[in-house]
Amino acid sequence: DKGNHRHFMEKEIHEQPEVISHTLSHYLDFAEGKAKRESLPFDFAKLDRIAISACGTAYLAGLVSKYWFERYARLPVDIDVASEFRYREMPMPKASAAFFVSQSGETADTLASLRYCRAEGIPIGAIVNVQESTIARESDCVFPTLAGPEIGVASTKAFTCQLSVLAALAVRAASERGTISAQEEKQLVRELSETPRYATQALKLEEQIDRVGRKLSQYKHVLYLGRGTNYPMAVEGALKLKEISYIHAEGYAAGELKHGPIALIDRDMPVIVIAPHDRVFDKTVSNMQEVAARGGKIILITDKEGSRRAGIETFETIVLPDMPEIIAPIVYALPVQMLAYHTAVFMGTDVDQPRNLAKSVTVE
Ligand code: M6R
Repeated sequence: DKGNHRHFMEKEIHEQPEVISHTLSHYLDFAEGKAKRESLPFDFAKLDRIAISACGTAYLAGLVSKYWFERYARLPVDIDVASEFRYREMPMPKASAAFFVSQSGETADTLASLRYCRAEGIPIGAIVNVQESTIARESDCVFPTLAGPEIGVASTKAFTCQLSVLAALAVRAASERGTISAQEEKQLVRELSETPRYATQALKLEEQIDRVGRKLSQYKHVLYLGRGTNYPMAVEGALKLKEISYIHAEGYAAGELKHGPIALIDRDMPVIVIAPHDRVFDKTVSNMQEVAARGGKIILITDKEGSRRAGIETFETIVLPDMPEIIAPIVYALPVQMLAYHTAVFMGTDVDQPRNLAKSVTVE
């Protein structure tokens, strides 16, 4: 049931504050300011690395979490798309664990990667939305995303719930590895508890984003740029836009711009820059200047501080509130999804059932 929404995708975008809150409270004890510690088939403190493998949007959730695990828990992460991982014959040192991220829990390549790790004898954790799925069944432990059923082929709420689980696990890993203090853990948990509130504020940008979507629907090619955790978000934005609007889109790490894609910049290719005011903001601004100097049209998704400091004339600036760094990837997913959604609605495509795509990819 779509309720009063035009599409399941729209409904699922709007459910996010609630399902994120639900998911985070499953993993974090807000009153105590701590990550919950249900027993695990491995010990974060004894791991040398984790391997993460998944497909599509679930892979991009894993890629964001690499930044979190490495930065907060000082735990190296190898992340691959499952279709590559399964055939790569990666050596699995004893002190590792493998995580698989999947909404459906049935994705063929992800399942095959899981079975490879099982044969290598390392502990397996699954971050899944469908709990009675094959991937859940074949894992040593299941970290559920409590997004509820996701009907739209484009993954939205499952993605932000995957990010929520992974952020909570990164905080737990950091605490157990002693790479953050009790005080820092408390602070991170408090920041994460604010996510639903910021997500609600992000939804209020819908009217503006609808206008930007109308503009974007006039173009054939779009480039997305971001640094740090905004790099996977740029790739996710491009994936979302191409899968439902059929506009050609590419997502790049902003620093890669001058290594090739800058050759494409002209007034016919809008560049969407995802850049909250964080540690790498100034670097991204210099990439934006390069785009602007070549007549590129910039759509900047940033926060108040970022819009004040960017000092660049943009085609459009979408301004979110300033927020803690750890929650930005979860909250910024919303404007990125809404932009793809509204653009696709203007294009008149079948948003919930895009051509050639299936909700669950059970064949290789
Ligand atoms: O069910 P899964 O999470 O394993 O599916 C993985 C991908 O097929 C999925 O995320 C796909 O990329 C979505 N259509 C993206 O919106």
